[in-house]
Amino acid sequence: MAKDWSPESWRGFPIKQQPIWPDDGELERALKQIAAYPPLVFAGEARSLQSGLAQVAAGNAFLLQAGDCAESFDEFSANNIREKLRVILQMAIVLTYSMGVPVMKVGRLAGQFAKPRSSDFEMYGELQLPSFRGHIVHAEAPTEAARVPSPDRLVQAYHQSAATLNLVRAFTKGGFAALDRVHAWNQEFVASSPAGQRYDQLATDIDRALRFMRATGMDTETNPNLREVDVFTSHEALLLPYEEALTRRDSTTGSWYDCSAHMLWIGERTRELDGAHVEFLRGVGNPIGCKIGPTASGEEVINICEAINPARLPGRLTLITRMGADKVEDGIRPLLRAVRDAGHPVVWACDPMHGNTYTSASGHKTRDFESIVAEIEGFVRAHHAEGTWPGGIHVELTGEDVTECVGGADELSDADLDHRYESVCDPRLNGRQALELAFRTAESIRSAHI
Ligand code: PEP
Ligand code: CO
Repeated sequence: MAKDWSPESWRGFPIKQQPIWPDDGELERALKQIAAYPPLVFAGEARSLQSGLAQVAAGNAFLLQAGDCAESFDEFSANNIREKLRVILQMAIVLTYSMGVPVMKVGRLAGQFAKPRSSDFEMYGELQLPSFRGHIVHAEAPTEAARVPSPDRLVQAYHQSAATLNLVRAFTKGGFAALDRVHAWNQEFVASSPAGQRYDQLATDIDRALRFMRATGMDTETNPNLREVDVFTSHEALLLPYEEALTRRDSTTGSWYDCSAHMLWIGERTRELDGAHVEFLRGVGNPIGCKIGPTASGEEVINICEAINPARLPGRLTLITRMGADKVEDGIRPLLRAVRDAGHPVVWACDPMHGNTYTSASGHKTRDFESIVAEIEGFVRAHHAEGTWPGGIHVELTGEDVTECVGGADELSDADLDHRYESVCDPRLNGRQALELAFRTAESIRSAHI
């Protein structure tokens, strides 16, 4: 157990990126309510994810972490969850089939609500408003009233997370994710794209392999490896009062786990060693992620490894680099060397989204599909050069037919962004772009590493 740590010890450290709740009494009441609710995940599940991630750290598996930038209270529906899951399963199949290694699937979902912001305020014409920090805090409408933080939203986020996780568990264990349904995951809007057609070919190959297995007498109907998948949950552990309220002692090991999700990560803006976020997350037993941006030095990264994972447990720590396409290759090589030479068994994952965001001529926050691919390619080249394993990707996507990122096989342009821009925060890949990205990622890794 971490030294001098308790679920509330973070309260003695400087904390960034927190909303200013208008009424402490109301906040306490909401937190008390959440603290009395059941955990959303169980410690044993977090440990099972950690052993999967240990395989990633060892170069024997791959991590696919994907979902919304910010989940929305308004876009909460079975349809939305199913489409997101469908595209994650499709990407995982492409990666598994092309690379021949297991893929650990971790959603940015069932709790990914709170957003850090570069500035405390944003401008709407002449109007200056507190920046939008996610539906767990307030509504995004550009009015003073909508932006007042409301603690009831913490409770609502808990309930939405529980319902989302319930549906994810039902889909992944109840037959939807069975391998003999790979064709059916290819929803129409995705299937008609070049990547969708390629996927269909791959699904046909898998069907043939399943028929072959059945012909040899194997029972493919009941084998759980072919009928069920594990999709784990994750989010940025930003609002520490909420995370503390869901932190429970595991009765089997006596250790503390943050039971709001299987995996929690620390954002680029809150990773100071002497800050509250590192203090809180060092003490919970879940697998932990940490975003690493272009300003991080090797020494800083080693210090994060020492703080979060002093016991050097493989799979405990995932370093998620988010450098920008033009900085990634030279930027991460010294970090890869430093961590490798220090003997820290980390998972390296590439977030090709957050270093490649820009405001387009039409005023939309967007990302170019080719820059996203280029960052992954640079990440893979850097790992190849240093003899380390490019363990995974961390992406923002939706299964829907949105127009938020430009490029891809459809060559979405700036003029198309107006058509269906729905993200409440950062621009996401749509279903077609996400599947195309899986093929491009697999090709890049296969040509360098396999
Ligand atoms: C995010 O993942 O949505 C995010 C805000 O990332 P970062 O902390 O890397 O900027
Ligand atoms: Co984001």
